[in-house]
Amino acid sequence: MAATNGKSSDLRSKFLDVYAQLKSELLQDPAFDFTEDSRQWIDRMLEYNVPGGKLNRGLSVIDSYKLLKQGKELSEDEVFLACVLGWGIEWLQAYFLVLDDIMDNSHTRRGQPCWFRLPKVGMIAANDGILLRNHIPRMLKKHFREKPYYVDLVDLFNEVEFQTASGQMLDLITTHEGEKDLSKYTLPVYRRIVQYKTAYYSFYLPVACALLMSGENLDDFIDVKNILIEMGTYFQVQDDYLDCYGNPEVIGKIGTDIEDFKCSWLVVKALECADENKKKLLSENYGKVDPAHVAIVKGLYKDLDLQTVFEEYERKSYEELISSIEAQPNKSVQEVLKSFLGKIYKRQK
Ligand code: IPE
Ligand code: MN
Ligand code: MN
Repeated sequence: MAATNGKSSDLRSKFLDVYAQLKSELLQDPAFDFTEDSRQWIDRMLEYNVPGGKLNRGLSVIDSYKLLKQGKELSEDEVFLACVLGWGIEWLQAYFLVLDDIMDNSHTRRGQPCWFRLPKVGMIAANDGILLRNHIPRMLKKHFREKPYYVDLVDLFNEVEFQTASGQMLDLITTHEGEKDLSKYTLPVYRRIVQYKTAYYSFYLPVACALLMSGENLDDFIDVKNILIEMGTYFQVQDDYLDCYGNPEVIGKIGTDIEDFKCSWLVVKALECADENKKKLLSENYGKVDPAHVAIVKGLYKDLDLQTVFEEYERKSYEELISSIEAQPNKSVQEVLKSFLGKIYKRQK
């Protein structure tokens, strides 16, 4: 059967086959003289942290590349290469999440304890994060070194990693500012954090990978980039909403934003809507681990009807995104953006 005619479940299993191959290449990397124990450590660490997510980001590279090819049949080799880039993004995500969970003091991720919570792991997780990050250029070198767009690909991953790490820094230092004065949590501050920590790697990177594979120059797609950043912002607002209102069984993680004093979209909206009394109550209870304080914050969100405020935001963002997508001159680019938006609109996980 032609690779392009496969159902999405076929694509997923093809994608997972490529994971097995990439893992095995990394476990045989001649640049390191593996012992039995070290090989087993990497094997377990990868199994635990890389393939267990929704795989939306990785699969989007292949979907986007197909749409950019406008229905022309993809060769086995093209599908394989798109899968490798998809996994590059999934590896990048695994690297950031392993470290993010340490910094956010989280408990669970993807329905299991965070990697650093395992007794045998602990702070070895910090080095595992560094190794995950180092695997990416190794995979790119092995499979793309001869391609004319190789330099651009390496540069893209480097730029996006820098943006994401900078966003993580903003997220973390803004929390210190907020602890001193909650009124620092405004919408522009929020948007800046999430644009950097989430939008570039989750939304721009998959499409940019597909564009490079199609031989495009990324400088010609600034509008597309801006739409994807807007979509990524909307995605992180959903993440913040689900942190409080999502079902942990479904989202695979227990929210910690209130306890962690995070500049979450919910607290920003609460501050916009609250009167002086409610603002005072919020200041007194936000950012405390004690469940009684957390319950007061959640009660306040309920009084302010933030769930409705969110639904309104969701509807409006969707409409605005659709109209900016439809203003794009290139039809296949429109398809790429609509397909991405369709995957996240009203998501529950
Ligand atoms: C994570 O942001 C962003 C990166 C991993 C770069 P959050 O800390 O808000 O995400 P979750 O809720 O832990 O997944
Ligand atoms: Mn975080
Ligand atoms: Mn986190």
